[in-house]
Parts: sequence; structure tokens; C-alpha cells
Amino acid sequence: MEELGGLFGYLIIFFYALAVLNFCFKFLNRNYREKLKKNDKFYKAFMKILKFLVKYHRYFGGAAIIMILIHFYLQFTHFGLSITGCIAAGFMILQFLLGIYGQVKKPKTKGWLRLHRGIAALLLVTILIHVI
Ligand code: HEM
Ligand code: HEM
Repeated sequence: MEELGGLFGYLIIFFYALAVLNFCFKFLNRNYREKLKKNDKFYKAFMKILKFLVKYHRYFGGAAIIMILIHFYLQFTHFGLSITGCIAAGFMILQFLLGIYGQVKKPKTKGWLRLHRGIAALLLVTILIHVI
């Protein structure tokens, strides 16, 4: 049971990583497009992955939240509360709500996206503190 709780913890990280890869692929495409295009076959595969990551981004975020609920249930019933875990989960829920806001409202200004990116970075720190 304890291992199962840990497994769901790593699944949260897995889906978080897939959500962040969206940013990484877009970053590479924005800044190194010409270099990437030098190999036509490679660039086509690269763009396929990028499109996949953008299309399913919100579902990766949603899957991370579901994994948090399962991880929370398993760990809480065995070990009780974890402050660092709750902080990381709190930021993840905030990130999820902000993502929905951006998706639904499609604001003209990019303020929300900057915040969404910032929280993604902050999440990495809070997750590392919880796991280490
Ligand atoms: C973003 C949210 C979270 C992530 C990514 C996460 C991730 C993880 C991971 C990967 C582990 C396994 C560490 C290892 O095996 O070395 C773990 C352990 C644990 N987590 Fe979380 N967790 C999160 C939220 C929470 C929450 C909300 C709780 C509240 C109960 C919690 C409680 C625990 C506990 C009690 C352990 C076991 C610690 C131990 O074995 O000493 N986690 N977590
Ligand atoms: C694990 C949770 C999540 C993380 C770590 C995360 C992270 C990110 C990051 C880093 C970006 C910036 C991409 C760029 O610079 O272009 C982004 C963009 C975006 N996110 Fe999230 N996100 C999460 C969940 C969600 C959810 C649940 C939704 C919607 C329901 C969402 C909607 C969006 C939208 C609409 C964009 C801008 C357009 C796009 O890149 O697709 N995000 N997200």
C-alpha cells in the first residue's frame, strides 16, 4: 500500500512533466526553428509531438489532479498530513484553475499566461522540496 502511494506520487510528476513539455517544445520551435528545420524528417516528427502536447495539455493537467487525489487518499490514510505535499498540491490546483481560466476566457492580455508559466516553475521547486 505504501508503494502504491509512492507510485501515484510519481504519476503526478509524470503528468506534470508532460504538461511542461508543451512549453519546452514551443520554446525550441520559437528560438531554434531554422536549425531544427535543417533535417526535414526530424522537424516533421518534432512538430507532430508538439501538436500532440498542445492538444492534450489540459488533459495532462487534469490527470495530474486526479493522481493527486489518489496519492492524497493513500498517503493521508497511512501517514497523515504532509505540509510540503499540501503546498505542492495547492499550487497544482491553482495552476489547474488558472489553466481553465485561460482556456475558457481566452484573455487578450498575456498576464495570465505569465502567471501560469511562473506557477509551473514554482511547482517544480515545491515538488522537489516534498520529494527530497
Ligand atoms: C503535487 C503534489 C504532490 C506530488 C508531486 C507528490 C509526490 C510524491 C512522491 C513522488 C512521493 C514518493 C517519494 C519517495 O518514494 O521517495 C511522495 C511521498 C509522500 N507524499 Fe506526496 N506528493 C504530492 C502531494 C502530497 C499531498 C497533498 C500529501 C498529503 C497527504 C502527500 C503526502 C505524502 C506522504 C505522506 C509521502 C510519503 C513520505 C514518506 O515515505 O516518508 N503528498 N509524494
Ligand atoms: C500540471 C498542470 C499544468 C502545468 C504544469 C501547465 C503548464 C503550462 C505552461 C508552462 C504553459 C506555457 C506554454 C507556453 O509558454 O506557450 C502552459 C500553457 C497553457 N496552459 Fe497549462 N499547465 C497545466 C495545466 C493546464 C490546464 C488544466 C489547462 C486547461 C484546462 C491549461 C491550459 C493552458 C493553456 C490554454 C495554455 C496556453 C496555450 C497552450 O500553450 O496550449 N493548463 N501551461
